[in-house]
Amino acid sequence: MINILMVCLGNICRSPLAEGILQSKLPKEKFYVDSAGTANYHTGNKPDIRSIEVAIRHGLNISSLKARQFKVSDFDAFDFIYVMDKSNLENVLKLSRNSKDKTKVSLILNEITPNENLEVPDPYYGGDNGFENVYKMLDEACDKLVKKLNP
Ligand code: 4NP
Repeated sequence: MINILMVCLGNICRSPLAEGILQSKLPKEKFYVDSAGTANYHTGNKPDIRSIEVAIRHGLNISSLKARQFKVSDFDAFDFIYVMDKSNLENVLKLSRNSKDKTKVSLILNEITPNENLEVPDPYYGGDNGFENVYKMLDEACDKLVKKLNP
């Protein structure tokens, strides 16, 4: 099994979408995909309705996902940890214990544009258009990831 974790701040907007999109592109027998937030504000909550709706428009149902906070043991449980922005990167790296933990973590958009350190913008305070924009970025990044993982 290859285990992949998507991480954002609240685990209700960007990372649940990333989880749903990547899971839909990979065989479940070989890949486990999960998501988490660096903050605990929304623990136990469903994804934001705007993420649920944009996913539905693209044929995905993420409505049963539940937010949880990133924890140190995720470094042991996951092979790859993809973060949405530089603040997530900093918060996850702060919890790392050694260089092995650190090498698991990267900005997801570096899968599309290596080394450019571009960010998936936080759509929480914006309009619905922000969610469509996030969806498109994540869909492209996940396509690249699937190519790399060669399922
Ligand atoms: P996410 O978006 O990190 O993509 O899940 C956010 C959700 C909630 C908050 C911030 C970002 N918040 O401040 O409550």
